[in-house]
Amino acid sequence: MAITILAIESSCDDTSAAVIRDQVLLSNIIANQDVHQKYGGVIPELASRAHQQNIIPVVSRALEVANVAVDDLDAVAFTNGPGLLGSLLVGTSFAKGLSLSLNVPLVEVNHLQGHILAHFIQKPNEAVRQPNFPFLCLLVSGGHSQIVVVRSHLEMEIVGQTLDDAAGEAFDKCAKVMGLPYPGGPLIDKLAKEGNPSAFKFAKPQIADLNYSFSGLKTSFLYFLRDRVAENPNFIEENLADLCASVQHTIIAVLMDKLIKASKQLGIKEIAVAGGVSANSGLRSAIVAEGAKRKWEVYIPEFGYTTDNAAMIGITGYFKFLRGDRASLDVAPVTRIKE
Ligand code: KG4
Ligand code: ZN
Repeated sequence: MAITILAIESSCDDTSAAVIRDQVLLSNIIANQDVHQKYGGVIPELASRAHQQNIIPVVSRALEVANVAVDDLDAVAFTNGPGLLGSLLVGTSFAKGLSLSLNVPLVEVNHLQGHILAHFIQKPNEAVRQPNFPFLCLLVSGGHSQIVVVRSHLEMEIVGQTLDDAAGEAFDKCAKVMGLPYPGGPLIDKLAKEGNPSAFKFAKPQIADLNYSFSGLKTSFLYFLRDRVAENPNFIEENLADLCASVQHTIIAVLMDKLIKASKQLGIKEIAVAGGVSANSGLRSAIVAEGAKRKWEVYIPEFGYTTDNAAMIGITGYFKFLRGDRASLDVAPVTRIKE
């Protein structure tokens, strides 16, 4: 019999609910929070308040679009971390309340595992190509940058990760110093299309193993801009597209170097990318181009599954549900998850 799951994601600044039946996604509703834009970053207290306002309409809409009644639900899945505590609490409390009132199981989901398993979401009327195990996933979001070996749906090993800032954070912070609004990643992506990626050169970090570091880039970018602006106050405006293209080029080169190294070291040619930064058009084409050269099988997620969404929590909830994972009502959200 088919399993129908309602999934809730509220780890950061997007409130999302999705309905999934087995692996097939029936709805995926996302309410973005605009309140943070003018502050240049997510303000946790405003995020939790916005989640509280959004959660009921978002869940109702997800059920409506899926044409599923609450009584049809077999389980409620929710993100229990990592993320902002206040934000996570809204989704967790709502999921608990709903599972208790419907008397259906509660399944907790790790947000990062969700990003990776988004590759297994199927559509109602078309078969979506999914990675074969074991595969490597470059997981790049606003909070994390990792290279993960995925051995089965629920068996994953982190083989490399950032020692400081995440790739998304590097995009956002470089955007911020250029005076662009939050989140800067998508804006840099857009502006970079008109710029020359070789216009400015920034040093790439020398980090051992399969790990990353992005905090140095942000700092050197800041000093570089400060010196140039001292000479010419209009330097940023006059060179915005070239600056965006050059910064993006550097971040992508750093990400790709370690991904290629990991593929060689581990002998894995099934390569996936996930997380908010996988929306980046430059990164997407770099992976496709590198894949063609190295005979990789490449898996690029649909745009809708790159940044935070509940569909990915639903698919992960589904695999965990099948394994028999159940969360108790005293489960508490966690801001960081031990790896
Ligand atoms: O996965 P996500 O939605 O949230 C976290 O789990 O962190 O990732 C958000 C991050 C932000 O840093 C945002 O700037 C970045 O993903 N991002 C992008 C693009 N779209 C989103 N970075 C570069 N290019 C994009 N097109
Ligand atoms: Zn995320």
